[in-house]
Amino acid sequence: MKKTIITLAFCVVLFSCNENKTEFSSNENLIDQKIDSLLKIMTLEEKVGQMNQYNGFWDVTGPKPDGGDAAKKYEHLKKGWVGSMLNVTGVKNVRAVQKIAVEESRLGIPLIIGFDVIHGYKTLSPIPLAEAASWDLEAIQKSAEMAAEEASAAGINWTFAPMIDISRDARWGRVMEGAGEDPFLGSKIAEARVNGFQGKDLNAHNTIAACAKHFAGYGFSESGRDYNTVDVGTSTLFNTIFPPFKAASEAGVSTFMNSFNELNGIPATGNTYLQRDILKEQWKFDGFVVSDWGSIIEMKAHGFAKDKKHATELAANAGSDMDMESYAYVEELANLVKEGKVKEEFIDDSVRRILKVKYELGLFDDPYKYCDEAREKDVLGSEKMHNASLDIAKKSIVLLKNEGNLLPLSKKGQKIALIGPLAADKTSPLGSWRLAADDNTAVSVLEGLEKYDGNNLTYAKGTDLTLEQPEFIKELKINTTDKSEFGKAITVAKNADVVIMVLGEHGFQSGEARSRAVLDLPGLQQELLEAIFKVNKNIVLVLNNGRPLTINWADKNIPAIVEAWPLGTQSGNAIAQVLYGDYNPSGKLPMSFPRSVGQIPIYYNYKNTGRPVLTDPGIVFWSHYSDIENTPLYPFGHGLSYTSFVYENLNITDTFKTNGTISVSVKLTNTGKTKGKEVVQLYIQDKFASITRPVKELKGFQMVELNPNKTKELKFLLTKKELGFYNNTGDFIIESGDFNVYIGGSSNTVVDAQFNLNN
Ligand code: BGC
Repeated sequence: MKKTIITLAFCVVLFSCNENKTEFSSNENLIDQKIDSLLKIMTLEEKVGQMNQYNGFWDVTGPKPDGGDAAKKYEHLKKGWVGSMLNVTGVKNVRAVQKIAVEESRLGIPLIIGFDVIHGYKTLSPIPLAEAASWDLEAIQKSAEMAAEEASAAGINWTFAPMIDISRDARWGRVMEGAGEDPFLGSKIAEARVNGFQGKDLNAHNTIAACAKHFAGYGFSESGRDYNTVDVGTSTLFNTIFPPFKAASEAGVSTFMNSFNELNGIPATGNTYLQRDILKEQWKFDGFVVSDWGSIIEMKAHGFAKDKKHATELAANAGSDMDMESYAYVEELANLVKEGKVKEEFIDDSVRRILKVKYELGLFDDPYKYCDEAREKDVLGSEKMHNASLDIAKKSIVLLKNEGNLLPLSKKGQKIALIGPLAADKTSPLGSWRLAADDNTAVSVLEGLEKYDGNNLTYAKGTDLTLEQPEFIKELKINTTDKSEFGKAITVAKNADVVIMVLGEHGFQSGEARSRAVLDLPGLQQELLEAIFKVNKNIVLVLNNGRPLTINWADKNIPAIVEAWPLGTQSGNAIAQVLYGDYNPSGKLPMSFPRSVGQIPIYYNYKNTGRPVLTDPGIVFWSHYSDIENTPLYPFGHGLSYTSFVYENLNITDTFKTNGTISVSVKLTNTGKTKGKEVVQLYIQDKFASITRPVKELKGFQMVELNPNKTKELKFLLTKKELGFYNNTGDFIIESGDFNVYIGGSSNTVVDAQFNLNN
């Protein structure tokens, strides 16, 4: 009887605004009032329950779990001690788990259902690093929008994306998940992805809450080894690591995830400075922070917490609002509050943040709003999804080299040999983080090329990249001995006009816990490449890789090289369209390609040092290597087209004193024979400042499409935002002095000019 009364009273609070959902969702005050009422009737344990997130655990649509962990989680769900589940997918399962929370717990608070929708759900778009190579913010936003549409149709309402960790270290396997090395590009992409996932209305049935991760510094793990220690100074933290997170917060991202790493001695999960001072105080972020998987309990291994209880105290006090799979909050937090070690107002603040996102998603109006079987059937793997995936896949391809215009291929009368372990692979192009996509669902390069039937195409594998079908949680086994397929590939190559070789990393060789110390082509691929080169030099090398590789030999010897990443479901079609010139490549590298692992970290926006150049021939005391040059193999921003562009007339108009802007213009001409797109990049250098500034910093870019012989004048505006920087106390400042401006089609710019800022 008592339960019924409470439930009824609660329903009045929860559903009083059902008639007008739009007004409800947009009315912050009303949401606050509802949360206040709800908090008043919640027990401490129920509040802590909202801060607890469990992984999917048993066949939710099957029999009830009997004993063990699953039974415990099920009991907790019924008690209202679970606020969120992750890795429960598909309408049927989500409905079943939501039903327990909503219909069997005392207060019936709906769950928020999270999943790693990193680059698509069932239909995959290119890995995020590849999408970043498109520099096409509209296309990137659209891709996130499509991912949200598909995931929401499968019951998901929260993605653990975008991952916006800046990284300068290609050894780190998770560079595939981010937007590369640059904070300016990274910030624009962070904003585009948040807008894509969340749309204009989080309450809509086809948008989902996004999560900016991993806050902070995860991409700076020492020696590129995943989960490793991070130690960076204030300048790097504020000027390089924070900007994409700040941009995501300003774009209204609903949630943040903290990170596994320690930052300057304090694990991010227990880091008050990061979570409370910077994020919640300074940036006024009003969503919630979820821990990374088990990162609360991992503070024990870090040597920061004595035991689970201590880790709970540290995390809660530092502002981690939700515990992902540490079982820490659910077991320890209520007692810590009772003992006075964690203030109840901190708990209320966390719960308020979590409930707010649930309200904004419209879950209180209809907990089953993402559970529509008919929509799931219509949307997943639909033509619309495939078209969107193909569109961004083409735009993500980068033409690294094209000597003698070997590309595009002629469509008729050619004998083409297609060789390589990844040429017919239908799983690897899906890349890492493709948890809901099925094996063998990508279009292979072989299938893509077969659609062009004017040529004679012959395929030979040459070597295996893996000996067995890889799985996410298994170590890969690479073939380093078996050359039995070499002979056939050599014969096929001998008889061909052009050889297309598809080599690189298997899609699962990058991603979480996939750090590599050697960045050469894995297995026997380099040997195969050289063996084929001996019989036919007309090679187009198509690379599939989730990170920059060291491909010096190929760069020196192979005439055409195409960076085709893991491109997702439509991979083979996108690659074929680029090879045949039906899409003129327009991508630009979001990360520098090193010549050698020894150069890492390597990035375009480095500092000059006191000894940047050789001043006295024969003297060795300048900042360089004695065995390799300083420059990367391919610089940040590099990418060719089938046409060519000329930059002229860089002009600067200084109106900073009067209206706070420096305006820059440049003329771009398509001097080739084909219509093409160029990403025009503007860099500045603050020549001297109270904190030394990088030799170049990207501060603007525009994508322009031009017909042959056409010229366009482009204008850029530089404001305080682009001209200033963060000092070592974290204040954003702008200083007078001399600046250089550089413009070009890569960070190796071609035109420059100067101005003096007198503010
Ligand atoms: C990763 C996160 C991910 C989480 C949930 C962790 O291992 O670091 O990025 O969102 O797992 O799958």
